[in-house]
Amino acid sequence: MSKRHILAGFGRILRAAGDSVGGLDDVQALAYCNCFPAPAHIVDQQDTMITLTINGERHDFDVDPSTPLLWVIREQTGLTGTKFGCGIAQCGACTVHLNGSPIRSCVTPVQVAANQSVTTIEGIGSKEAGLHAIQQAWIDEQVPQCGYCQSGQIMSAVALLSNNPAPTDDDIDRAMSGNICRCGTYPRIRKGIKRAAAKLSETPVSEA
Ligand code: FES
Ligand code: FES
Repeated sequence: MSKRHILAGFGRILRAAGDSVGGLDDVQALAYCNCFPAPAHIVDQQDTMITLTINGERHDFDVDPSTPLLWVIREQTGLTGTKFGCGIAQCGACTVHLNGSPIRSCVTPVQVAANQSVTTIEGIGSKEAGLHAIQQAWIDEQVPQCGYCQSGQIMSAVALLSNNPAPTDDDIDRAMSGNICRCGTYPRIRKGIKRAAAKLSETPVSEA
């Protein structure tokens, strides 16, 4: 993958992220964002064929193995539900599951996920295939505001309930602490997780 190709891809991600860098070209956009790990990714490296299973489907990518998994998911697979936020593992917007565990795809080289199973927000559930209990709870509790952080929030919440079907408030706060919401939807996120937990255990929902 060439430097120019990587820069172009980065510019597209910034634009997809709705970042306020309109009018900047790719190189300017790179300079604008000091979180970009330039030394590791502007050096041309040999592309390698890497196989991932994404949402149950096998994909082969001819890619620089150090490319962040997020870029492969969004740019090469076209699954744009996973978002770019900070690029430095601080906001959680890019959360996906690797073999069922939440990871920050913005800082995970694609080679780390080679021959393993990746799940994105598109693989959790859909209107057509049926919504996950977390997704339905998000609708019922009207959790999202702008929505930008919410696919990452949902991926972390799904992982939480997989490991802990009846989380306490402290459990929720701890598990979700790496997912930042600039809109401050945290109280509704907590209610959504409790609603989904109750649904999954088929117990009545108590109003907070
Ligand atoms: S974009 Fe990955 S943690 Fe913020
Ligand atoms: S809903 Fe807007 S950032 Fe979370």
